[in-house]
Amino acid sequence: MVLSGMIKLQSARAFINRDWRKNMDFLELVKSRCTTRGFKNKAIEKNDLIHILSAGRVAPTACNRQPQRIIVVQQPDNIIKLQKAYKTFGAPCVLIVCQDKRNALIRPFDGKCSGDLDIGIICDHMMLAARELNIGSVMVGLFDPEIVRKDFDIPDYIEPTALLILGYPEKGFLNPERHDTERRPLTDTIMYEKYNEENK
Ligand SMILES: Cc1cc2nc3c(=O)[nH]c(=O)nc-3n(C[C@H](O)[C@H](O)[C@H](O)COP(=O)(O)O)c2cc1C
Repeated sequence: MVLSGMIKLQSARAFINRDWRKNMDFLELVKSRCTTRGFKNKAIEKNDLIHILSAGRVAPTACNRQPQRIIVVQQPDNIIKLQKAYKTFGAPCVLIVCQDKRNALIRPFDGKCSGDLDIGIICDHMMLAARELNIGSVMVGLFDPEIVRKDFDIPDYIEPTALLILGYPEKGFLNPERHDTERRPLTDTIMYEKYNEENK
């Protein structure tokens, strides 16, 4: 019993290399995306990169302000510079996903800025577009923004919000079934009609 459970868990975590491009519906695509932290030394084709960036371009942003400013980093010396701010896992391409703070949309009631939400949605669009092309990704928030700002000439009204590291996974993609065990069930996170942790 315990052994069969372990085998099931292991197979859910196993890396897979199936080509998802054919007949992949949306839920299959989102389940097949996973964070990649080890990349092959293989460049991303220009058209593929444009496909990924185009998916980010059409993402919704609050009031359609489109605060994103994205620096595409592919030159090896510039990737090395980025490594002072965060690991790049051998990737051939890193997007520095910034937001322009000059025209930020601020919620009047509590001063919350929508820029981080915009950047999150844009990155998710790009990660899913990448996955469709069998390109792996990791979104990084825990980098040192000041190092990035200095080394990439980013002015003070532009905030480097996230790095999106892209490339072909060294070990393939994780099995989509991993979500069965790695994500909380809907009943843990969804409530109906009012906030109620006890009786969702
Ligand atoms: C906003 C955000 C910030 C993240 N920052 C980091 C990071 O700094 N370093 C890292 O290795 N992974 C980072 N991740 C990746 C998460 O750790 C990962 O998405 C999460 O563990 C779920 O795993 P999965 O992407 O394989 O489903 C980040 C993800 C998000 C959405």
